[in-house]
Amino acid sequence: MSVVSRATAIAHPNIALAKYWGKRADGHNLPAVPSLSVTLAGMATTTEVAFDASLDRDELHLGGAALPPDAEATRRVAGLLDRVRAASGRRERARVVSRNDFPTAAGLASSASAFAALALAASAAAGLPTAPALVSDLARKTSVSAARSAFGGFVELRAGRPGDEALAATPLAPEDHWPLAVVIAVTREGPKDVGSSDGMRHTAMTSPYFPAWVDAAPSLFDAVRAAVLARDLAALGAAAEASALCMHASSIAASPGLLYWTGATVEVIAAVRRLRAQGTPAFFTIDAGPHVKVFTTPEAQAAVGAALLAVPGVLRTITAVPGGGARLAPSSG
Ligand code: PMV
Repeated sequence: MSVVSRATAIAHPNIALAKYWGKRADGHNLPAVPSLSVTLAGMATTTEVAFDASLDRDELHLGGAALPPDAEATRRVAGLLDRVRAASGRRERARVVSRNDFPTAAGLASSASAFAALALAASAAAGLPTAPALVSDLARKTSVSAARSAFGGFVELRAGRPGDEALAATPLAPEDHWPLAVVIAVTREGPKDVGSSDGMRHTAMTSPYFPAWVDAAPSLFDAVRAAVLARDLAALGAAAEASALCMHASSIAASPGLLYWTGATVEVIAAVRRLRAQGTPAFFTIDAGPHVKVFTTPEAQAAVGAALLAVPGVLRTITAVPGGGARLAPSSG
Protein backbone atom coordinates (compact mmCIF):
# COMPACT_ATOMS: atom_id res chain seq x y z
CA MET A 1 0.00 0.00 0.00
CA SER A 2 1.37 3.40 -0.91
CA VAL A 3 1.85 6.17 1.63
CA VAL A 4 -0.54 9.06 1.10
CA SER A 5 0.12 12.55 2.48
CA ARG A 6 -2.97 14.68 2.52
CA ALA A 7 -4.26 18.05 3.73
CA THR A 8 -7.48 20.01 3.30
CA ALA A 9 -7.78 23.80 3.10
CA ILE A 10 -10.64 26.28 2.94
CA ALA A 11 -10.43 29.66 1.19
CA HIS A 12 -12.84 32.42 0.26
CA PRO A 13 -13.29 34.53 -2.85
CA ASN A 14 -12.30 38.19 -2.78
CA ILE A 15 -13.64 41.23 -4.59
CA ALA A 16 -11.16 43.86 -5.75
CA LEU A 17 -11.97 47.48 -4.85
CA ALA A 18 -8.87 48.59 -6.78
CA LYS A 19 -8.66 46.26 -9.77
CA TYR A 20 -5.84 44.15 -11.10
CA TRP A 21 -5.97 43.95 -14.91
CA GLY A 22 -2.84 43.24 -16.94
CA LYS A 23 0.42 41.46 -16.33
CA ARG A 24 3.96 42.78 -16.57
CA ALA A 25 5.57 41.80 -19.86
CA ASP A 26 8.67 40.24 -18.26
CA GLY A 27 7.12 37.00 -17.00
CA HIS A 28 6.62 35.40 -13.56
CA ASN A 29 2.88 36.20 -13.63
CA LEU A 30 3.41 39.62 -12.05
CA PRO A 31 0.61 42.22 -12.00
CA ALA A 32 1.21 45.45 -13.93
CA VAL A 33 -0.85 47.44 -11.40
CA PRO A 34 -1.42 47.38 -7.62
CA SER A 35 -4.74 46.00 -6.35
CA LEU A 36 -6.73 46.00 -3.12
CA SER A 37 -9.53 43.63 -2.23
CA VAL A 38 -11.84 42.46 0.49
CA THR A 39 -12.00 38.74 1.26
CA LEU A 40 -15.55 37.48 1.73
CA ALA A 41 -17.16 35.26 4.34
CA GLY A 42 -20.12 33.05 3.49
CA MET A 43 -18.76 31.53 0.28
CA ALA A 44 -15.95 28.99 0.35
CA THR A 45 -13.85 26.59 -1.67
CA THR A 46 -12.74 23.43 0.17
CA THR A 47 -9.86 21.54 -1.41
CA GLU A 48 -8.16 18.31 -0.39
CA VAL A 49 -4.75 17.44 -1.82
CA ALA A 50 -3.42 13.88 -1.47
CA PHE A 51 0.07 13.06 -2.75
CA ASP A 52 -0.09 9.38 -3.64
CA ALA A 53 2.75 7.30 -5.08
CA SER A 54 0.26 5.01 -6.85
CA LEU A 55 -0.91 7.82 -9.17
CA ASP A 56 0.74 8.28 -12.55
CA ARG A 57 -0.65 11.76 -13.13
CA ASP A 58 -2.25 14.61 -11.19
CA GLU A 59 -6.04 14.29 -10.94
CA LEU A 60 -8.59 17.07 -10.44
CA HIS A 61 -12.12 16.41 -9.21
CA LEU A 62 -14.31 19.52 -9.18
CA GLY A 63 -17.74 19.46 -7.54
CA GLY A 64 -17.83 15.66 -7.70
CA ALA A 65 -16.75 15.30 -11.36
CA ALA A 66 -13.32 14.22 -12.60
CA LEU A 67 -11.86 16.68 -15.12
CA PRO A 68 -9.98 15.42 -18.19
CA PRO A 69 -6.16 15.57 -17.92
CA ASP A 70 -5.96 18.07 -20.77
CA ALA A 71 -8.58 20.47 -19.34
CA GLU A 72 -7.29 24.00 -18.75
CA ALA A 73 -8.11 23.76 -15.01
CA THR A 74 -6.26 20.43 -14.65
CA ARG A 75 -3.18 21.90 -16.34
CA ARG A 76 -3.18 24.96 -14.07
CA VAL A 77 -3.54 22.75 -10.98
CA ALA A 78 -0.68 20.50 -12.17
CA GLY A 79 1.47 23.62 -12.71
CA LEU A 80 1.00 24.67 -9.09
CA LEU A 81 1.68 21.11 -7.89
CA ASP A 82 4.90 21.05 -9.96
CA ARG A 83 6.11 24.09 -8.01
CA VAL A 84 5.27 22.38 -4.72
CA ARG A 85 7.11 19.23 -5.85
CA ALA A 86 10.16 21.30 -6.87
CA ALA A 87 10.23 23.13 -3.52
CA SER A 88 9.65 20.05 -1.35
CA GLY A 89 11.61 17.37 -3.22
CA ARG A 90 8.46 15.22 -3.45
CA ARG A 91 7.86 13.32 -6.63
CA GLU A 92 4.40 11.76 -6.17
CA ARG A 93 1.44 12.91 -8.23
CA ALA A 94 -1.59 14.19 -6.36
CA ARG A 95 -5.36 13.77 -6.30
CA VAL A 96 -7.08 17.15 -5.83
CA VAL A 97 -10.72 17.13 -4.74
CA SER A 98 -12.29 20.58 -4.68
CA ARG A 99 -15.79 21.93 -4.20
CA ASN A 100 -17.39 25.33 -3.92
CA ASP A 101 -20.38 25.96 -1.67
CA PHE A 102 -21.52 28.71 -4.05
CA PRO A 103 -22.73 28.35 -7.64
CA THR A 104 -19.82 28.10 -10.05
CA ALA A 105 -21.78 27.95 -13.30
CA ALA A 106 -22.76 31.62 -13.05
CA GLY A 107 -19.24 32.81 -13.80
CA LEU A 108 -19.00 34.21 -10.28
CA ALA A 109 -16.29 31.89 -9.09
CA SER A 110 -13.07 33.67 -9.74
CA SER A 111 -10.01 31.51 -9.51
CA ALA A 112 -9.10 33.29 -6.28
CA SER A 113 -10.58 30.96 -3.66
CA ALA A 114 -9.67 27.89 -5.74
CA PHE A 115 -5.95 28.60 -6.05
CA ALA A 116 -5.58 29.98 -2.52
CA ALA A 117 -7.11 26.77 -1.10
CA LEU A 118 -5.00 24.62 -3.43
CA ALA A 119 -1.75 26.45 -2.57
CA LEU A 120 -2.35 26.01 1.17
CA ALA A 121 -3.51 22.37 1.01
CA ALA A 122 -0.70 21.34 -1.36
CA SER A 123 1.97 23.07 0.77
CA ALA A 124 0.70 21.39 3.94
CA ALA A 125 0.37 17.97 2.30
CA ALA A 126 3.95 18.23 0.99
CA GLY A 127 5.33 19.28 4.37
CA LEU A 128 6.26 22.80 3.20
CA PRO A 129 5.82 25.80 5.51
CA THR A 130 2.34 27.32 5.28
CA ALA A 131 2.92 30.94 6.35
CA PRO A 132 0.28 33.05 4.55
CA ALA A 133 2.90 35.07 2.63
CA LEU A 134 4.37 31.86 1.18
CA VAL A 135 0.92 30.53 0.29
CA SER A 136 0.07 33.92 -1.26
CA ASP A 137 3.17 33.94 -3.46
CA LEU A 138 2.59 30.33 -4.56
CA ALA A 139 -1.06 31.05 -5.42
CA ARG A 140 -0.11 34.30 -7.22
CA LYS A 141 2.14 32.43 -9.63
CA THR A 142 -1.01 30.72 -11.00
CA SER A 143 -3.70 33.36 -10.35
CA VAL A 144 -2.82 36.89 -9.28
CA SER A 145 -6.16 37.50 -7.52
CA ALA A 146 -5.68 34.25 -5.53
CA ALA A 147 -2.66 35.83 -3.80
CA ARG A 148 -5.10 38.13 -1.99
CA SER A 149 -7.36 35.29 -0.73
CA ALA A 150 -4.48 33.92 1.38
CA PHE A 151 -5.37 36.73 3.81
CA GLY A 152 -8.67 37.85 5.34
CA GLY A 153 -10.18 41.31 5.56
CA PHE A 154 -8.76 44.11 3.42
CA VAL A 155 -5.73 42.95 1.44
CA GLU A 156 -3.31 44.71 -0.90
CA LEU A 157 -0.96 43.47 -3.59
CA ARG A 158 1.61 45.83 -5.04
CA ALA A 159 2.49 45.87 -8.73
CA GLY A 160 5.36 43.68 -9.84
CA ARG A 161 8.78 45.30 -10.36
CA PRO A 162 11.59 44.35 -12.71
CA GLY A 163 13.52 41.44 -11.23
CA ASP A 164 10.69 40.29 -8.92
CA GLU A 165 10.16 36.57 -8.74
CA ALA A 166 8.44 36.30 -5.37
CA LEU A 167 5.50 38.62 -4.70
CA ALA A 168 2.93 38.10 -1.95
CA ALA A 169 -0.14 40.08 -0.93
CA THR A 170 -0.13 41.81 2.46
CA PRO A 171 -3.00 42.37 4.91
CA LEU A 172 -4.04 46.02 5.21
CA ALA A 173 -6.83 45.78 7.81
CA PRO A 174 -8.66 42.87 9.48
CA GLU A 175 -12.16 41.80 8.51
CA ASP A 176 -13.73 43.63 11.50
CA HIS A 177 -12.04 46.91 10.52
CA TRP A 178 -15.16 47.99 8.66
CA PRO A 179 -18.46 46.07 8.59
CA LEU A 180 -19.37 46.53 4.94
CA ALA A 181 -22.00 44.41 3.21
CA VAL A 182 -21.85 43.22 -0.39
CA VAL A 183 -24.88 42.41 -2.53
CA ILE A 184 -24.01 40.59 -5.76
CA ALA A 185 -26.55 41.09 -8.53
CA VAL A 186 -26.44 37.94 -10.67
CA THR A 187 -27.41 38.90 -14.21
CA ARG A 188 -26.78 35.69 -16.13
CA GLU A 189 -26.60 31.96 -15.39
CA GLY A 190 -25.18 31.18 -18.81
CA PRO A 191 -21.85 30.19 -20.32
CA LYS A 192 -18.45 31.34 -19.17
CA ASP A 193 -17.06 34.73 -20.18
CA VAL A 194 -13.71 35.29 -21.82
CA GLY A 195 -11.40 34.21 -18.98
CA SER A 196 -9.53 36.97 -17.19
CA SER A 197 -6.07 35.84 -18.37
CA ASP A 198 -7.15 35.80 -22.03
CA GLY A 199 -9.10 39.04 -21.57
CA MET A 200 -6.21 40.96 -20.06
CA ARG A 201 -3.72 39.62 -22.63
CA HIS A 202 -6.03 40.73 -25.44
CA THR A 203 -6.49 44.14 -23.78
CA ALA A 204 -2.75 44.65 -23.26
CA MET A 205 -1.97 43.67 -26.84
CA THR A 206 -4.66 45.59 -28.70
CA SER A 207 -6.22 48.37 -26.60
CA PRO A 208 -4.91 51.93 -27.10
CA TYR A 209 -6.30 52.62 -23.61
CA PHE A 210 -4.31 49.88 -21.85
CA PRO A 211 -1.27 52.17 -21.21
CA ALA A 212 -3.66 54.82 -19.87
CA TRP A 213 -5.18 52.26 -17.48
CA VAL A 214 -1.72 51.22 -16.23
CA ASP A 215 -0.88 54.92 -15.70
CA ALA A 216 -4.14 55.67 -13.86
CA ALA A 217 -4.34 52.55 -11.67
CA PRO A 218 -1.74 53.48 -9.00
CA SER A 219 -3.46 56.72 -7.99
CA LEU A 220 -6.86 54.99 -7.98
CA PHE A 221 -5.31 52.32 -5.74
CA ASP A 222 -3.94 55.04 -3.42
CA ALA A 223 -7.40 56.62 -3.17
CA VAL A 224 -9.04 53.25 -2.45
CA ARG A 225 -6.41 52.46 0.20
CA ALA A 226 -6.80 55.82 1.96
CA ALA A 227 -10.62 55.52 1.93
CA VAL A 228 -10.49 52.00 3.40
CA LEU A 229 -8.17 53.14 6.20
CA ALA A 230 -10.42 56.16 6.90
CA ARG A 231 -13.65 54.07 6.60
CA ASP A 232 -14.96 56.73 4.20
CA LEU A 233 -17.67 55.05 2.11
CA ALA A 234 -18.28 58.00 -0.23
CA ALA A 235 -14.57 58.32 -1.03
CA LEU A 236 -14.20 54.56 -1.39
CA GLY A 237 -17.17 54.39 -3.74
CA ALA A 238 -15.83 57.13 -6.00
CA ALA A 239 -12.37 55.53 -6.24
CA ALA A 240 -13.59 51.92 -6.54
CA GLU A 241 -16.11 52.77 -9.27
CA ALA A 242 -13.41 54.71 -11.15
CA SER A 243 -11.06 51.73 -10.91
CA ALA A 244 -13.69 49.33 -12.28
CA LEU A 245 -14.79 51.70 -15.05
CA CYS A 246 -11.20 52.47 -16.15
CA MET A 247 -10.41 48.74 -16.23
CA HIS A 248 -13.49 47.99 -18.33
CA ALA A 249 -12.86 51.01 -20.59
CA SER A 250 -9.44 49.56 -21.43
CA SER A 251 -11.07 46.26 -22.47
CA ILE A 252 -13.95 47.86 -24.34
CA ALA A 253 -11.37 49.76 -26.43
CA ALA A 254 -9.50 46.55 -27.37
CA SER A 255 -9.68 45.25 -30.93
CA PRO A 256 -12.11 43.59 -31.23
CA GLY A 257 -13.71 45.23 -28.21
CA LEU A 258 -14.07 43.05 -25.14
CA LEU A 259 -17.34 43.92 -23.44
CA TYR A 260 -18.13 41.88 -20.33
CA TRP A 261 -21.37 43.77 -19.65
CA THR A 262 -24.95 43.03 -20.65
CA GLY A 263 -27.91 45.41 -20.63
CA ALA A 264 -28.69 44.30 -17.09
CA THR A 265 -25.17 45.26 -15.97
CA VAL A 266 -25.81 48.83 -17.11
CA GLU A 267 -29.30 48.85 -15.53
CA VAL A 268 -27.76 47.86 -12.18
CA ILE A 269 -25.21 50.69 -12.45
CA ALA A 270 -28.11 53.09 -13.02
CA ALA A 271 -30.02 51.63 -10.05
CA VAL A 272 -27.00 52.10 -7.77
CA ARG A 273 -26.73 55.74 -8.86
CA ARG A 274 -30.46 56.22 -8.15
CA LEU A 275 -30.06 54.69 -4.68
CA ARG A 276 -27.18 57.03 -3.96
CA ALA A 277 -29.11 60.07 -5.20
CA GLN A 278 -31.85 59.09 -2.73
CA GLY A 279 -29.34 59.01 0.14
CA THR A 280 -28.63 55.25 0.34
CA PRO A 281 -24.90 54.54 0.66
CA ALA A 282 -23.93 52.17 -2.16
CA PHE A 283 -21.32 51.77 -4.88
CA PHE A 284 -20.64 49.13 -7.53
CA THR A 285 -17.75 47.18 -8.92
CA ILE A 286 -17.63 44.73 -11.85
CA ASP A 287 -15.14 41.95 -12.67
CA ALA A 288 -14.59 39.94 -15.85
CA GLY A 289 -18.29 39.11 -16.21
CA PRO A 290 -21.75 40.70 -16.35
CA HIS A 291 -22.57 40.59 -12.62
CA VAL A 292 -22.45 43.70 -10.46
CA LYS A 293 -21.11 43.67 -6.91
CA VAL A 294 -22.67 46.41 -4.80
CA PHE A 295 -21.07 47.48 -1.52
CA THR A 296 -23.20 49.13 1.15
CA THR A 297 -23.64 49.31 4.93
CA PRO A 298 -25.23 46.46 6.95
CA GLU A 299 -28.13 48.82 7.75
CA ALA A 300 -28.86 49.54 4.08
CA GLN A 301 -28.23 46.00 2.84
CA ALA A 302 -31.89 44.89 2.78
CA ALA A 303 -33.03 48.01 0.92
CA VAL A 304 -30.16 47.69 -1.59
CA GLY A 305 -30.95 44.00 -2.13
CA ALA A 306 -34.63 44.75 -2.78
CA ALA A 307 -33.78 47.58 -5.19
CA LEU A 308 -31.36 45.36 -7.16
CA LEU A 309 -33.84 42.47 -7.36
CA ALA A 310 -36.35 44.87 -8.89
CA VAL A 311 -33.98 45.71 -11.78
CA PRO A 312 -35.07 43.93 -14.99
CA GLY A 313 -32.49 41.28 -15.83
CA VAL A 314 -31.31 40.67 -12.27
CA LEU A 315 -31.95 36.96 -11.68
CA ARG A 316 -31.06 36.78 -8.00
CA THR A 317 -28.77 38.30 -5.40
CA ILE A 318 -26.10 36.84 -3.14
CA THR A 319 -25.06 38.71 0.01
CA ALA A 320 -21.71 38.53 1.77
CA VAL A 321 -19.58 40.33 4.37
CA PRO A 322 -15.80 40.61 4.90
CA GLY A 323 -14.26 37.35 6.07
CA GLY A 324 -11.07 35.52 6.97
CA GLY A 325 -8.12 34.20 5.01
CA ALA A 326 -7.30 30.69 3.82
CA ARG A 327 -7.02 28.11 6.61
CA LEU A 328 -6.35 24.41 7.02
CA ALA A 329 -9.28 22.18 7.94
CA PRO A 330 -8.88 20.99 11.56
CA SER A 331 -8.01 17.39 10.69
CA SER A 332 -5.28 18.33 8.27
CA GLY A 333 -1.67 19.46 8.14
O1 PMV B 1 -6.21 36.62 -11.13
P1 PMV B 1 -7.34 36.46 -12.08
O2 PMV B 1 -6.95 35.82 -13.35
O3 PMV B 1 -8.51 35.78 -11.40
O4 PMV B 1 -7.84 37.96 -12.51
C1 PMV B 1 -8.74 38.71 -11.75
C2 PMV B 1 -9.13 39.96 -12.45
C3 PMV B 1 -10.30 40.72 -11.84
O5 PMV B 1 -11.13 39.88 -11.07
C4 PMV B 1 -11.15 41.27 -12.98
C5 PMV B 1 -9.84 41.92 -11.00
C6 PMV B 1 -9.25 41.58 -9.66
O6 PMV B 1 -8.36 42.33 -9.24
O7 PMV B 1 -9.68 40.60 -9.01
